[in-house]
Amino acid sequence: MRPLEFPDFLRRLDKHHKALDPMHLMYDNVLQSGYLHFGYWPTEHTDQPGVLGQFCQAQERFANELLACLPPGTHRVLDVGAGMGRLAGEMIARGHRVTAVTPSSVQAEHIATHYPAVTVKQGLFQDVGQTLDPKAYDVILFSESFRYMPLDRVMPLFSRLLSENGRVLIGDWFAQSRATHGRGHDHHEATFREMAQSRGWTIVSERDITQNILPTLTIAQEILCGLYLPLAGLVLSKFAQKRPKLFRLCLPWMTRWIERKLLPQLTGRFEPAVFAQDYRYLFLVIKSSDAAAA
Ligand SMILES: C[S@@+](CC[C@H](N)C(=O)[O-])C[C@H]1O[C@@H](n2cnc3c(N)ncnc32)[C@H](O)[C@@H]1O
Repeated sequence: MRPLEFPDFLRRLDKHHKALDPMHLMYDNVLQSGYLHFGYWPTEHTDQPGVLGQFCQAQERFANELLACLPPGTHRVLDVGAGMGRLAGEMIARGHRVTAVTPSSVQAEHIATHYPAVTVKQGLFQDVGQTLDPKAYDVILFSESFRYMPLDRVMPLFSRLLSENGRVLIGDWFAQSRATHGRGHDHHEATFREMAQSRGWTIVSERDITQNILPTLTIAQEILCGLYLPLAGLVLSKFAQKRPKLFRLCLPWMTRWIERKLLPQLTGRFEPAVFAQDYRYLFLVIKSSDAAAA
C-alpha cells in the first residue's frame, strides 16, 4: 500500500466493515501478489542473509568506504554526531584516537559502555566544540550528521579545533535545489560550497555515492508500504469491524491527521526517484586553503 492510498483505505473500511476479513486484507496489502496462500519454497538453503542482514552489510560497507577517505596513518578524530558509536569503535580498532560528540544522553551512555576507549562528550557540537582543546584534532568527521549542523556556528569551529593540515570528512546528502533545501535538516549543496570557499576551505576530494544509497530507500519504502502501513491497516480494520460507530466518529479526525501530519513525512525525499532527482549523497574532504598552500 502506498502512503497516499492510506486515507482512502480507511474510508473503504468504514464502507465495508461488515464484510471485512482483516487478516486477509493485511496479507494482500503486504504481499500484493494476488495470492493469499503460503507459497512453496525450494528445500536447498542459501547463506544469503535476509533483507535486514543485507542492510547491515551495506552499513558496514558505508563505514569502510567513508573511512577510506581518511588520509593515510592514524589520527586524532573528532566524530561529530556519533550515534550509537559503532564507527567510533571501528576507528579505535584501526588505531585512531577518537572523541565522540552526541547531544543524546542515551547515545553518550551507550558509547561509553560499549566502546570504553572512545572519549565521549555529550552536547550539541556548536556548544561542545567551544570547550574542546584548540588544534587537538587531525580530522573532524561527520557521518550522516552534517545536515544537522548550523553552518555559521560550526564552520568557525573547524579552524579552532583542527591541527595544521587537519581535514573535515563529511558523508551526507545535500539538496540540489534551493526549493528542496529547508525540508528537514538539509543543506543546499551550492550554498555550502560557496560558504566553504568564502571562509577559506578547499575541497580536497569528493565522491558522489547517491546511486549506492538508493537501495536503502527502496528497502525503507518496501518496509513502510509492505509492513508498517498494512499493520496499521490491520489494527484499524479490526477497529472498524468491532466498533463501527466509534470508527465512523474518529474517521474524519484520523484521515485529517494522516493527510496533514503523517503523509508529508512519508512521501518526498525518502522515495528513491525523488531523492535521486533532488539530492546528492557525497563523501567530501575539505581542508583550510592556508594548509593547502603550506
Ligand atoms: C543519522 S545519525 C548518524 C549517527 C552516526 N554518525 C552513524 O553514522 O551511525 C545523526 C547523529 O547526529 C547527532 N546530532 C544531531 N544534531 C547534532 C548536533 N547539533 N551536534 C552533534 N550531534 C548532533 C544525532 O544525535 C545523531 O547521533
